[in-house]
Amino acid sequence: MVNDIVKDNIKLGTRLHTIASFVPEGSRLGDIGTDHAYLPVYLIQKGIIKSAVGVDIHKGPYESALETVTMYGVGQNIDIRQGNGLIPLRPDEIDTLVIAGMGGGTILEILQSQPKVLEEVSKIIIQPQGAEARVRKELISQGWRLKDECLVEEDNRIYSVIILTRSEGLGYQDIENRIKDIRGSFSNYAQQQNLDISTEVINDFINKYVWILGPIIIEDRDKHLQSIIRDNMINMENIIQEMRKTIREQVQTKSKLVEQESKLLEVMRRWLFQ
Ligand SMILES: C[S@@+](CC[C@H](N)C(=O)[O-])C[C@H]1O[C@@H](n2cnc3c(N)ncnc32)[C@H](O)[C@@H]1O
Repeated sequence: MVNDIVKDNIKLGTRLHTIASFVPEGSRLGDIGTDHAYLPVYLIQKGIIKSAVGVDIHKGPYESALETVTMYGVGQNIDIRQGNGLIPLRPDEIDTLVIAGMGGGTILEILQSQPKVLEEVSKIIIQPQGAEARVRKELISQGWRLKDECLVEEDNRIYSVIILTRSEGLGYQDIENRIKDIRGSFSNYAQQQNLDISTEVINDFINKYVWILGPIIIEDRDKHLQSIIRDNMINMENIIQEMRKTIREQVQTKSKLVEQESKLLEVMRRWLFQ
């Protein structure tokens, strides 16, 4: 019934609001793992996107999404489908893709689920929960370019939002060049700290952490980066404590490497923020 339609604008939390801010005007959006469909409903209400297809694999979220779309009376512009990844989509329906709130491995699988649909997509906005380095490396090696990225805090957790396009932003070689520059300048700083850590270990650390933390996030000195670095150090401290319980030589050697990595993270924090 028409008078059941909610006229208020839907409100998004900080995480989804940040994701929404990267969706280009006039997009035809695919929101995979749409859950309650809050994101596409918000973007239609604001007049930012032309249309959206929200997909969810599970019955419960699919039904919640249908309910939200009906409640806000936006069914003409938003289609909700139940299914796996990009499979329920046709190739000419979407040009922008959001995949948020899922593990990095799941996001990579979803992106492979319908190559013909992905071919028509010019921008992907992803928010992986873990495996950020693998996601960046794999997608950028496949030819996607890193247009932007940032960290966002919600409910005391920090999330990475990563934006990839086909033609703008950093390609694989650009990131390798940045890694080289960071290695040079960070190594100099680290050597001055009398750490007793070899240049080889310092270089490996930078090669690894630029992909984990994100080259643009590092360059921007994102305000949440200090917290992410601290969280990583706490995790490492726990691993070191566990490792100390065993006397096996192999474990002791590994434990020393983790200690060095933790020390280098603290040096990186100071290098970036002091
Ligand atoms: C944690 S929720 C995130 C919801 C929303 N995207 C957000 O960021 O707030 C993850 C949703 O993804 C759905 N999902 C997981 N794997 C999927 C897949 N392969 N295809 C479609 N949906 C999937 C789940 O059913 C769940 O509703």
